[in-house]
Amino acid sequence: MSWIPPSTASRSPSPVNGGGEICPKAVTLYEVGPRDGLQAEAQSVSAADKIALIDKLSASGLSQIEAASFVSPKWVPQMADAAEVMAGIQRKAGARYPVLTPNMHGYEAARSAGADTAAIFGAASESFSQKNINCSIAESLARFTPVCAAAARDGVRVRGYVSCVIACPYEGPILPDAVVRVAERLLEMGCYEISLGDTIGVGTPAETQRLLDAVLKRIPVEKIAVHFHDTYGQALANILTSLGYGIATVDSSVGGLGGCPYAPGAAGNVATEDVLYMLNGLGVHTGVDLDAVVEAAWFINGVLGHPPRSKVALALRPGNTGR
Ligand code: HMG
Ligand code: MG
Repeated sequence: MSWIPPSTASRSPSPVNGGGEICPKAVTLYEVGPRDGLQAEAQSVSAADKIALIDKLSASGLSQIEAASFVSPKWVPQMADAAEVMAGIQRKAGARYPVLTPNMHGYEAARSAGADTAAIFGAASESFSQKNINCSIAESLARFTPVCAAAARDGVRVRGYVSCVIACPYEGPILPDAVVRVAERLLEMGCYEISLGDTIGVGTPAETQRLLDAVLKRIPVEKIAVHFHDTYGQALANILTSLGYGIATVDSSVGGLGGCPYAPGAAGNVATEDVLYMLNGLGVHTGVDLDAVVEAAWFINGVLGHPPRSKVALALRPGNTGR
Protein backbone atom coordinates (compact mmCIF):
# COMPACT_ATOMS: atom_id res chain seq x y z
CA MET A 1 0.00 0.00 0.00
CA SER A 2 1.42 3.39 -0.84
CA TRP A 3 1.78 6.00 1.87
CA ILE A 4 -0.40 9.08 1.51
CA PRO A 5 1.11 12.09 3.28
CA PRO A 6 -1.23 13.96 5.58
CA SER A 7 -2.66 17.16 4.20
CA THR A 8 -5.01 19.79 5.51
CA ALA A 9 -7.53 18.52 3.00
CA SER A 10 -7.38 14.95 4.28
CA ARG A 11 -7.48 15.65 7.99
CA SER A 12 -9.71 17.76 10.10
CA PRO A 13 -7.98 19.97 12.65
CA SER A 14 -7.70 18.29 16.03
CA PRO A 15 -6.73 19.82 19.34
CA VAL A 16 -3.06 18.97 19.56
CA ASN A 17 -0.43 19.81 22.04
CA GLY A 18 2.52 21.33 20.27
CA GLY A 19 4.94 20.41 23.03
CA GLY A 20 3.39 22.68 25.64
CA GLU A 21 -0.03 23.85 26.74
CA ILE A 22 -1.47 25.10 23.47
CA CYS A 23 -1.03 24.85 19.74
CA PRO A 24 -2.31 27.48 17.32
CA LYS A 25 -5.06 26.36 14.92
CA ALA A 26 -3.38 28.31 12.12
CA VAL A 27 0.26 29.18 11.47
CA THR A 28 1.78 31.69 9.05
CA LEU A 29 4.82 30.34 7.28
CA TYR A 30 7.24 33.18 6.58
CA GLU A 31 9.34 32.02 3.64
CA VAL A 32 12.99 33.14 3.64
CA GLY A 33 14.43 30.94 0.87
CA PRO A 34 14.92 33.60 -1.81
CA ARG A 35 16.80 35.76 0.73
CA ASP A 36 18.35 33.69 3.57
CA GLY A 37 18.62 30.69 1.27
CA LEU A 38 20.24 32.29 -1.73
CA GLN A 39 22.49 34.69 0.22
CA ALA A 40 24.35 31.63 1.49
CA GLU A 41 24.94 29.88 -1.82
CA ALA A 42 28.45 30.15 -3.26
CA GLN A 43 27.07 29.93 -6.76
CA SER A 44 25.28 32.96 -8.13
CA VAL A 45 21.67 32.56 -9.23
CA SER A 46 20.28 34.72 -12.03
CA ALA A 47 17.57 37.28 -11.32
CA ALA A 48 15.30 35.34 -13.72
CA ASP A 49 15.67 32.15 -11.64
CA LYS A 50 15.08 34.06 -8.40
CA ILE A 51 11.93 35.57 -9.89
CA ALA A 52 10.73 32.15 -11.07
CA LEU A 53 11.34 30.75 -7.57
CA ILE A 54 9.41 33.56 -5.87
CA ASP A 55 6.52 33.18 -8.31
CA LYS A 56 6.36 29.43 -7.61
CA LEU A 57 6.37 30.10 -3.87
CA SER A 58 3.57 32.65 -4.31
CA ALA A 59 1.58 30.08 -6.29
CA SER A 60 1.98 27.55 -3.43
CA GLY A 61 -0.10 29.78 -1.16
CA LEU A 62 2.76 31.26 0.88
CA SER A 63 1.72 34.80 1.78
CA GLN A 64 4.99 36.10 3.26
CA ILE A 65 8.01 35.67 1.00
CA GLU A 66 11.22 37.46 1.89
CA ALA A 67 12.41 38.30 -1.58
CA ALA A 68 15.81 40.03 -1.35
CA SER A 69 18.21 42.19 0.69
CA PHE A 70 19.09 45.81 0.07
CA VAL A 71 22.54 45.48 1.59
CA SER A 72 26.01 46.33 0.36
CA PRO A 73 26.87 44.25 -2.74
CA LYS A 74 30.45 44.19 -1.42
CA TRP A 75 29.22 42.39 1.68
CA VAL A 76 26.65 40.07 0.08
CA PRO A 77 27.13 39.93 -3.71
CA GLN A 78 24.38 37.29 -4.02
CA MET A 79 21.77 40.00 -3.28
CA ALA A 80 23.17 42.65 -5.66
CA ASP A 81 20.22 42.25 -8.05
CA ALA A 82 17.56 42.95 -5.41
CA ALA A 83 15.91 45.76 -7.39
CA GLU A 84 15.73 43.64 -10.56
CA VAL A 85 14.16 40.79 -8.60
CA MET A 86 11.57 43.09 -7.01
CA ALA A 87 10.71 44.53 -10.43
CA GLY A 88 10.23 41.08 -11.99
CA ILE A 89 8.09 39.20 -9.50
CA GLN A 90 4.35 38.79 -9.89
CA ARG A 91 2.89 40.18 -6.70
CA LYS A 92 -0.06 38.10 -5.65
CA ALA A 93 -2.98 39.91 -4.04
CA GLY A 94 -2.77 39.58 -0.27
CA ALA A 95 0.85 38.43 -0.29
CA ARG A 96 3.81 40.39 1.10
CA TYR A 97 7.36 40.45 -0.18
CA PRO A 98 9.58 41.77 2.65
CA VAL A 99 13.22 42.74 2.05
CA LEU A 100 16.16 43.31 4.39
CA THR A 101 17.13 46.94 4.96
CA PRO A 102 20.04 47.52 7.39
CA ASN A 103 20.06 51.33 7.12
CA MET A 104 18.49 54.30 5.32
CA HIS A 105 20.53 53.61 2.19
CA GLY A 106 18.94 50.16 1.98
CA TYR A 107 15.50 51.43 2.96
CA GLU A 108 15.45 54.09 0.24
CA ALA A 109 16.53 51.58 -2.40
CA ALA A 110 13.87 49.16 -1.16
CA ARG A 111 11.19 51.84 -1.36
CA SER A 112 12.21 52.73 -4.92
CA ALA A 113 11.84 49.04 -5.74
CA GLY A 114 8.29 49.08 -4.35
CA ALA A 115 8.89 47.07 -1.17
CA ASP A 116 5.82 46.77 1.08
CA THR A 117 7.67 45.45 4.13
CA ALA A 118 11.17 46.25 5.38
CA ALA A 119 13.09 44.00 7.74
CA ILE A 120 15.72 45.41 10.06
CA PHE A 121 18.15 42.92 11.50
CA GLY A 122 19.85 43.31 14.83
CA ALA A 123 21.57 40.86 17.12
CA ALA A 124 21.78 39.92 20.76
CA SER A 125 25.55 39.48 20.38
CA GLU A 126 27.96 42.41 20.06
CA SER A 127 30.49 40.39 18.08
CA PHE A 128 27.93 39.13 15.59
CA SER A 129 26.57 42.65 15.13
CA GLN A 130 30.07 43.88 14.30
CA LYS A 131 30.81 41.04 11.89
CA ASN A 132 27.42 41.13 10.17
CA ILE A 133 26.59 44.82 9.88
CA ASN A 134 29.84 46.48 10.93
CA CYS A 135 28.54 48.27 14.00
CA SER A 136 27.70 47.74 17.69
CA ILE A 137 24.21 46.83 18.87
CA ALA A 138 23.66 50.42 20.05
CA GLU A 139 24.83 51.82 16.70
CA SER A 140 22.58 49.38 14.85
CA LEU A 141 19.56 50.54 16.85
CA ALA A 142 20.48 54.14 16.02
CA ARG A 143 20.56 53.23 12.30
CA PHE A 144 17.22 51.41 12.52
CA THR A 145 15.44 54.35 14.18
CA PRO A 146 15.21 56.53 11.04
CA VAL A 147 14.30 53.48 8.95
CA CYS A 148 11.31 52.84 11.21
CA ALA A 149 10.35 56.52 11.22
CA ALA A 150 10.47 56.71 7.41
CA ALA A 151 8.56 53.44 7.10
CA ALA A 152 5.84 54.73 9.44
CA ARG A 153 5.51 57.84 7.25
CA ASP A 154 5.40 55.74 4.08
CA GLY A 155 2.95 53.16 5.43
CA VAL A 156 5.54 50.40 5.12
CA ARG A 157 5.54 47.62 7.72
CA VAL A 158 8.78 46.85 9.52
CA ARG A 159 9.76 43.43 10.79
CA GLY A 160 12.59 43.12 13.30
CA TYR A 161 15.07 40.28 13.52
CA VAL A 162 17.18 39.44 16.53
CA SER A 163 20.04 37.11 15.62
CA CYS A 164 22.02 34.82 17.91
CA VAL A 165 19.13 34.33 20.32
CA ILE A 166 20.67 31.17 21.73
CA ALA A 167 24.33 31.34 20.80
CA CYS A 168 26.79 33.38 18.79
CA PRO A 169 29.46 31.91 16.50
CA TYR A 170 32.02 34.27 18.06
CA GLU A 171 30.91 34.58 21.73
CA GLY A 172 29.18 31.27 22.50
CA PRO A 173 26.00 31.12 24.63
CA ILE A 174 23.82 34.23 24.77
CA LEU A 175 21.61 35.02 27.75
CA PRO A 176 17.86 35.38 27.08
CA ASP A 177 17.93 38.82 28.79
CA ALA A 178 20.18 40.15 26.01
CA VAL A 179 17.60 38.99 23.47
CA VAL A 180 14.72 40.58 25.38
CA ARG A 181 16.54 43.94 25.54
CA VAL A 182 17.03 44.16 21.77
CA ALA A 183 13.58 42.76 20.96
CA GLU A 184 11.90 45.34 23.18
CA ARG A 185 13.82 48.18 21.53
CA LEU A 186 12.79 46.98 18.06
CA LEU A 187 9.16 46.81 19.13
CA GLU A 188 9.33 50.31 20.63
CA MET A 189 10.57 51.53 17.25
CA GLY A 190 7.40 50.19 15.65
CA CYS A 191 8.21 46.70 14.38
CA TYR A 192 5.01 44.73 13.93
CA GLU A 193 6.78 41.46 14.72
CA ILE A 194 10.11 40.21 16.06
CA SER A 195 11.70 37.12 14.58
CA LEU A 196 13.98 35.29 17.00
CA GLY A 197 16.90 33.83 15.04
CA ASP A 198 18.89 30.80 16.12
CA THR A 199 21.41 31.90 13.52
CA ILE A 200 23.79 28.97 13.88
CA GLY A 201 21.16 26.33 14.60
CA VAL A 202 22.56 25.05 17.88
CA GLY A 203 19.51 25.39 20.13
CA THR A 204 17.65 22.47 21.65
CA PRO A 205 14.06 22.44 22.94
CA ALA A 206 15.30 23.10 26.49
CA GLU A 207 17.10 26.25 25.32
CA THR A 208 14.11 27.26 23.24
CA GLN A 209 11.95 26.99 26.36
CA ARG A 210 14.38 29.11 28.40
CA LEU A 211 14.39 31.72 25.65
CA LEU A 212 10.62 31.83 25.23
CA ASP A 213 10.00 31.82 28.99
CA ALA A 214 12.04 35.04 29.18
CA VAL A 215 10.80 36.69 25.99
CA LEU A 216 7.10 36.00 26.52
CA LYS A 217 7.20 37.50 30.00
CA ARG A 218 7.83 40.85 28.32
CA ILE A 219 6.41 40.58 24.78
CA PRO A 220 2.97 39.37 23.62
CA VAL A 221 3.14 36.03 21.85
CA GLU A 222 1.44 37.37 18.70
CA LYS A 223 4.42 39.69 18.16
CA ILE A 224 6.93 36.83 18.09
CA ALA A 225 8.09 34.64 15.20
CA VAL A 226 10.75 31.94 15.34
CA HIS A 227 13.60 31.47 12.86
CA PHE A 228 15.55 28.26 13.29
CA HIS A 229 18.52 27.14 11.30
CA ASP A 230 18.91 23.37 11.34
CA THR A 231 22.62 22.76 11.83
CA TYR A 232 22.12 20.13 14.53
CA GLY A 233 18.75 18.79 13.32
CA GLN A 234 16.86 20.43 16.19
CA ALA A 235 14.73 22.88 14.25
CA LEU A 236 11.49 20.90 14.01
CA ALA A 237 11.67 20.00 17.69
CA ASN A 238 12.29 23.66 18.51
CA ILE A 239 9.34 24.72 16.35
CA LEU A 240 7.06 22.18 18.03
CA THR A 241 8.20 23.59 21.37
CA SER A 242 7.44 27.12 20.15
CA LEU A 243 3.97 26.11 18.93
CA GLY A 244 3.33 24.91 22.46
CA TYR A 245 3.77 28.51 23.61
CA GLY A 246 1.22 29.67 21.04
CA ILE A 247 3.72 31.07 18.54
CA ALA A 248 1.94 31.24 15.20
CA THR A 249 4.56 32.58 12.77
CA VAL A 250 7.40 30.32 11.71
CA ASP A 251 10.23 31.26 9.37
CA SER A 252 11.37 28.54 6.99
CA SER A 253 13.20 28.14 3.72
CA VAL A 254 12.23 26.13 0.66
CA GLY A 255 14.50 23.11 0.22
CA GLY A 256 16.22 23.87 3.54
CA LEU A 257 18.44 26.46 1.86
CA GLY A 258 20.06 29.06 4.04
CA GLY A 259 22.85 30.29 6.21
CA CYS A 260 24.56 33.55 6.82
CA PRO A 261 27.86 34.55 5.24
CA TYR A 262 28.88 36.12 8.59
CA ALA A 263 27.91 33.15 10.78
CA PRO A 264 30.55 30.47 10.22
CA GLY A 265 29.17 26.97 10.69
CA ALA A 266 25.53 27.93 10.15
CA ALA A 267 23.62 25.42 8.06
CA GLY A 268 20.38 25.96 6.19
CA ASN A 269 17.12 27.13 7.65
CA VAL A 270 14.53 24.57 8.56
CA ALA A 271 12.89 23.48 5.29
CA THR A 272 9.45 24.91 4.52
CA GLU A 273 8.22 21.53 3.30
CA ASP A 274 9.40 19.78 6.49
CA VAL A 275 7.57 22.31 8.68
CA LEU A 276 4.51 22.12 6.46
CA TYR A 277 4.39 18.33 6.60
CA MET A 278 4.51 18.50 10.40
CA LEU A 279 1.83 21.20 10.58
CA ASN A 280 -0.41 19.27 8.18
CA GLY A 281 -0.01 16.22 10.40
CA LEU A 282 -0.93 18.31 13.45
CA GLY A 283 -4.04 19.60 11.67
CA VAL A 284 -2.74 23.17 11.78
CA HIS A 285 -3.98 25.37 8.94
CA THR A 286 -1.40 27.18 6.77
CA GLY A 287 -3.10 27.67 3.40
CA VAL A 288 0.06 26.36 1.70
CA ASP A 289 0.17 23.47 -0.74
CA LEU A 290 2.85 20.91 0.13
CA ASP A 291 3.32 19.53 -3.39
CA ALA A 292 3.78 23.03 -4.80
CA VAL A 293 6.49 23.82 -2.23
CA VAL A 294 8.25 20.53 -2.98
CA GLU A 295 8.16 21.38 -6.68
CA ALA A 296 9.70 24.78 -5.93
CA ALA A 297 12.40 23.06 -3.85
CA TRP A 298 13.33 20.76 -6.75
CA PHE A 299 13.27 23.70 -9.14
CA ILE A 300 15.74 25.84 -7.17
CA ASN A 301 17.94 22.90 -6.31
CA GLY A 302 18.05 22.03 -10.00
CA VAL A 303 19.34 25.55 -10.63
CA LEU A 304 21.91 25.15 -7.84
CA GLY A 305 22.94 21.71 -9.04
CA HIS A 306 22.44 19.83 -5.79
CA PRO A 307 19.47 17.92 -4.33
CA PRO A 308 17.30 19.53 -1.64
CA ARG A 309 18.48 18.96 1.92
CA SER A 310 15.02 18.39 3.31
CA LYS A 311 13.66 14.97 4.15
CA VAL A 312 10.21 15.79 2.76
CA ALA A 313 11.47 17.06 -0.60
CA LEU A 314 13.50 13.87 -0.97
CA ALA A 315 10.58 11.64 0.05
CA LEU A 316 8.16 13.47 -2.25
CA ARG A 317 10.60 13.82 -5.13
CA PRO A 318 8.59 14.37 -8.32
CA GLY A 319 8.01 10.96 -9.90
CA ASN A 320 8.79 9.08 -6.66
CA THR A 321 6.62 5.99 -6.98
CA GLY A 322 6.93 5.10 -3.30
CA ARG A 323 4.43 7.80 -2.52
P1 HMG B 1 29.55 49.61 6.05
O1 HMG B 1 30.72 49.33 5.17
O2 HMG B 1 29.79 49.85 7.51
O3 HMG B 1 28.65 50.80 5.45
O4 HMG B 1 28.55 48.39 5.88
P2 HMG B 1 28.92 52.32 5.26
O5 HMG B 1 27.67 53.05 5.65
O6 HMG B 1 30.23 52.72 5.89
O7 HMG B 1 29.07 52.44 3.65
C1 HMG B 1 30.14 51.82 2.95
C2 HMG B 1 29.73 51.59 1.51
O8 HMG B 1 28.60 50.72 1.44
C3 HMG B 1 29.32 52.87 0.80
O9 HMG B 1 29.64 52.69 -0.57
C4 HMG B 1 27.83 52.87 0.94
O10 HMG B 1 27.18 53.61 -0.07
C5 HMG B 1 27.52 51.39 0.78
P3 HMG B 1 31.03 53.22 -1.20
O11 HMG B 1 31.02 54.70 -0.91
O12 HMG B 1 32.13 52.48 -0.49
O13 HMG B 1 30.90 52.86 -2.66
N1 HMG B 1 26.27 51.00 1.46
C6 HMG B 1 25.30 50.32 0.86
N2 HMG B 1 25.17 49.82 -0.39
C7 HMG B 1 24.02 49.16 -0.67
N3 HMG B 1 23.02 48.97 0.23
C8 HMG B 1 23.12 49.43 1.47
C9 HMG B 1 24.30 50.14 1.82
N4 HMG B 1 24.71 50.73 2.96
C10 HMG B 1 25.91 51.25 2.73
N5 HMG B 1 22.12 49.23 2.34
C11 HMG B 1 26.36 47.45 5.89
C12 HMG B 1 27.33 48.35 6.62
C13 HMG B 1 25.19 47.24 6.83
C14 HMG B 1 25.88 48.12 4.62
C15 HMG B 1 27.08 46.11 5.55
O14 HMG B 1 27.67 45.61 6.70
C16 HMG B 1 26.13 45.09 5.00
O15 HMG B 1 25.65 45.24 3.88
N6 HMG B 1 25.86 44.03 5.75
C17 HMG B 1 24.86 43.05 5.34
C18 HMG B 1 25.15 41.74 5.95
C19 HMG B 1 24.06 40.77 5.58
O16 HMG B 1 23.27 40.97 4.67
N7 HMG B 1 24.04 39.63 6.30
C20 HMG B 1 23.07 38.58 6.06
C21 HMG B 1 21.69 38.93 6.49
S1 HMG B 1 21.44 38.77 8.25
C22 HMG B 1 20.98 37.10 8.47
O17 HMG B 1 21.11 36.32 7.56
C23 HMG B 1 20.40 36.68 9.78
C24 HMG B 1 18.89 36.44 9.72
O18 HMG B 1 18.57 35.46 8.75
C25 HMG B 1 18.36 35.99 11.09
C26 HMG B 1 19.16 34.84 11.70
O19 HMG B 1 19.33 33.80 11.06
O20 HMG B 1 19.60 35.04 12.83
C27 HMG B 1 18.13 37.73 9.33
MG1 MG C 1 18.74 33.30 9.07
